[in-house]
Amino acid sequence: MTPNEAETAVLVERLVGSVAGGEDRAVEAALRPKDLDEFIGQEKVREQLDLVLRAARARGATADHVLLSGAPGLGKTTLSMIIAAEMDAPIRITSGPAIQHAGDLAAILSSLQEGEVLFLDEIHRMSRPAEEMLYMAMEDFRVDVIVGKGPGATAIPLELPPFTLVGATTRAGLLPPPLRDRFGFTAHMEFYEPTELERVIHRSANLLDVGIEADGAAEIAGRSRGTPRIANRLLRRVRDYAQVKADGHITREIAEAALAVYEVDARGLDRLDRAVLEALLKLFGGGPVGLSTLAVAVGEERETVTEVAEPFLVREGLLARTPRGRVATPAAWAHLGLVPSGRGGPADGRDGRH
Ligand SMILES: Nc1ncnc2c1ncn2[C@@H]1O[C@H](COP(=O)(O)OP(=O)(O)OP(=O)(O)O)[C@@H](O)[C@H]1O
Ligand SMILES: [Mg+2]
Repeated sequence: MTPNEAETAVLVERLVGSVAGGEDRAVEAALRPKDLDEFIGQEKVREQLDLVLRAARARGATADHVLLSGAPGLGKTTLSMIIAAEMDAPIRITSGPAIQHAGDLAAILSSLQEGEVLFLDEIHRMSRPAEEMLYMAMEDFRVDVIVGKGPGATAIPLELPPFTLVGATTRAGLLPPPLRDRFGFTAHMEFYEPTELERVIHRSANLLDVGIEADGAAEIAGRSRGTPRIANRLLRRVRDYAQVKADGHITREIAEAALAVYEVDARGLDRLDRAVLEALLKLFGGGPVGLSTLAVAVGEERETVTEVAEPFLVREGLLARTPRGRVATPAAWAHLGLVPSGRGGPADGRDGRH
């Protein structure tokens, strides 16, 4: 297992993890918006992409290559399919890790039809030789196929039909600049606002044929960590609860009770997130404390703390990573309803919610 896969393996088990699990994959196809109008939020990206695609259509040309960057579950795969649908073009789906050799990529590229969309997921995990072949394919719609080995090897140039490459990455920073520069348009996907997630939840509830009140949707949205995939997953768990414990209709009370069972709190933190915060506050007075010490205190590996729990805690402004160690913010004390012990803490910790 590569470190990346190990990270994924830990993440998929979490209800609030943003990486797709088995069940997500099965239902995501049914919940995916099919065109730009149905795609919720990401106003800037939508407006820009709409222009790019409209202009290409008006010219009767193939759209420029598009790079989609953003955290897992924000809608990159969804957008790639929308691009193909809007261009009325077929789509071919592959991913960086699936392309081991340049030859694999040559085989895919040479079988593309004119105007086809090639979706290359996790493009930052492609091998070096494949990446170099892709540069030429993107720019000149040409590849050099190497025949033979050693001094006798020859490069046979192969013309490609114009196609649109849609690359997706969770780590735009890892892309080599020559690759990044060959995309005509880069869309940076942001985390969603709670009101946007409410719309995602209403739309999905409708498709799943589940009745939901506005405040029920708001309750789920607030705990979804800015991520549509998590919103859809929490919705499905709340639906289960509503069907077993009530009449199947989702109200705020039902959503609260269901998410209490699944240990997802009002802000979207799960048991691990809270364990890390609690150790930091209760055992170490809010820090600073070293990562190793904190990991031992919660009985987890260092990687689990840094990769799984911390990113969201940092994003939420509950925890800070400093050169001297991990430090809790005043918001962390307030969130856990604790009063800071000793120096440096805020006096209003008592106001925190439970
Ligand atoms: N803007 C949106 N409106 C409605 N639903 C959305 C939107 N964005 C994403 N979703 C839903 O969220 C789920 C996850 O989206 P998607 O698979 O496109 O994410 P992703 O960015 O490709 O994630 P990953 O990085 O893990 O591949 C899908 O079920 C999709 O329907
Ligand atoms: Mg995807």
